[in-house]
Amino acid sequence: MKQFLFLFAFAFTVQFVHSQENLPTDYLTKEFHQGRRDAFRALMPANSVAVVFSYPERVFSKDVDYNYHQNPDMYYLTGYKEPDAVLLLFKEPQGTEKYTEVLFVRERNATLETWTGRRLGTEGAKSKLGFTTVYNGKDFNGFAIDFKKFDKIIYDKSAPGIHDYTYNTADLFDLVKIFKSKAGITQESEASTDLFTNITNSLREIKTPEELVLMRKTVKLSCIAHNEVMKAVGPDMSENEADGIHAYIHRHYGAEGEGYHPILGAGANGCILHYGENNATKMDNQLLLMDVGSEYHGYSADVTRTIPANGKFTEEQKAIYQIVYDAQEEVFKICKEGTPIQDLNKKAKEVITAGLIKLGIITDPKDVKLYYPHGCSHFLGLDVHDKGNYMGTLKENMILTVEPGIYIPANSKCDKKWWNIGIRIEDDILMLKNSYENLSADSPRKWQDIEALAKQKSTFNDMKLPKI
Ligand code: GLY
Ligand code: MN
Ligand code: MN
Repeated sequence: MKQFLFLFAFAFTVQFVHSQENLPTDYLTKEFHQGRRDAFRALMPANSVAVVFSYPERVFSKDVDYNYHQNPDMYYLTGYKEPDAVLLLFKEPQGTEKYTEVLFVRERNATLETWTGRRLGTEGAKSKLGFTTVYNGKDFNGFAIDFKKFDKIIYDKSAPGIHDYTYNTADLFDLVKIFKSKAGITQESEASTDLFTNITNSLREIKTPEELVLMRKTVKLSCIAHNEVMKAVGPDMSENEADGIHAYIHRHYGAEGEGYHPILGAGANGCILHYGENNATKMDNQLLLMDVGSEYHGYSADVTRTIPANGKFTEEQKAIYQIVYDAQEEVFKICKEGTPIQDLNKKAKEVITAGLIKLGIITDPKDVKLYYPHGCSHFLGLDVHDKGNYMGTLKENMILTVEPGIYIPANSKCDKKWWNIGIRIEDDILMLKNSYENLSADSPRKWQDIEALAKQKSTFNDMKLPKI
């Protein structure tokens, strides 16, 4: 809303204070975020500083921005949800005040807050987030810090915001520019700086008890949404309408939105792995692949169910579905502490290869990649594709997806009776010492259970909306 804002902002002379009521009570606590900073600091080498930036705001259209989403690393370490911020973490106490962390935040501005929303400001960052040393972003430039005296500067070399343009004197792009110039960082030296990734991988891949509460919630409510669509869907429903049912249910249970762009692909669209147009006006008697997960207080679910829009799988659809289901079951059996993460995909590929050969869809095992072109598992958490070490082994309290799939687009080199079948089943798996817990078990996976649920009616079927 930038231009609109500048045109009219000056007309405002009264400066309101907007108090906030009826907020959720189950956000992560400031103690959680403080604890994560301590854990990060414990992994920093001697005489080092870590620098974390917020994500930039992005234009949706002209003077309308996308809903802002914080950099998950910044959120994890601070709880701060606004743009234009930078966090400094020091291994050893600094200055006469002996601070080990400094947060630079967006400055409060009563006029702008009336237009675009509340800001925490320096005082809020102290009282609500538990920081002691907090400044406005515009003070970053004058802040007395000699980055060059540190043996190691730890920052995310892949973080967005490395641009040369600027709108004011303390936005993200300025903060990055100031940091790079103060630290003498050039393009070449950036390449050696992946300690940040190593540290955040090792922290974020293991979920704390507080995070597990939110993960259970986001996955559970996403399953309710999947189940409701299974009941409500029919050949005349559009992909976008099914998306809307998911969205409604997410928000009903307090989720802020979705953790990634929802995939609602009917028929041929289900064979496009990250299909996102969701604009088919009806599903006819095709399969609907729905890969949709809510984001609840920052934590994303990632659940896929593939269902027949008319409530009944064909024999061909069942045969492919069963292979994907069996692949998942076999992978589940090795979900426990100690299994190399790469083995999950090896196992899924093995089962899918055998299944496709048995059905005569392929003869050469190498051709499995034509119909199963992606991996089986990724970490899940603040990011849908969360941080973690993919070359390591499974550990207790990791959460990974298990998501085998088979996609047979039209004109594939197999009997055309298989064409346009795209099936993925995706569950969110909490690793335990000797086994696992399927967090998304509330949504049926067996084709028989899906058909049974599809026979039930949904309240969405009873909506009496006027025809236009
Ligand atoms: N929803 C994206 C994925 O499954 O990886
Ligand atoms: Mn996934
Ligand atoms: Mn997914």
